[in-house]
Amino acid sequence: MNIGIIVYSKTGNTFEVASRLKGSLEQKGYSVSLEQVTLEKDAKPGEKDIKLVNIPDVERYEQLIFGSPVQAFSLAEGMNAYLEQIPSLEGKEVSLFVTKQLPFAWTGGNRTLGQMEKICAGKGAKVRGKEIVYWHEKNREKTIKQCIDSLGKQF
Ligand SMILES: Cc1cc2nc3c(=O)[nH]c(=O)nc-3n(C[C@H](O)[C@H](O)[C@H](O)COP(=O)(O)O)c2cc1C
Repeated sequence: MNIGIIVYSKTGNTFEVASRLKGSLEQKGYSVSLEQVTLEKDAKPGEKDIKLVNIPDVERYEQLIFGSPVQAFSLAEGMNAYLEQIPSLEGKEVSLFVTKQLPFAWTGGNRTLGQMEKICAGKGAKVRGKEIVYWHEKNREKTIKQCIDSLGKQF
């Protein structure tokens, strides 16, 4: 089984979680690729003129994990643009995670996961795990481990 972890990460936090998740899944014997969505220039919340540079191909993977930062209580525009342009996720199983600074799921975590789920389900994916990593120091390590454990159990 080929697992693809595809993330957008502005400052590296989401990428760091994805790297650790990749390492954990590889230790369990899975074949995992980690790919990043990149943009021509940084996109501010609300910006709609997004030019994607690296556009990972979902067709290479049977199982997908998408990760994104929360920005302005919503899905980061770069990840939104990437997910929107995917032609189809029919027959694929998808897990989702977000990273965020503020405590509590209601400061953008739930909303962002909901936005990601809606796009993925709309393209035919079966959405499985959903996790929030809180980057605030007090909860960071605990929630990273929880995310890795929980999403790892999906396979
Ligand atoms: C423009 C902008 C808006 C943000 N808005 C939120 C927010 O609404 N809620 C939150 O918890 N964190 C917010 N953050 C913090 C990021 O979600 C957090 O630092 C995240 O881990 C960054 O991930 P990255 O390093 O992969 O880009 C925001 C960060 C930026 C740059």
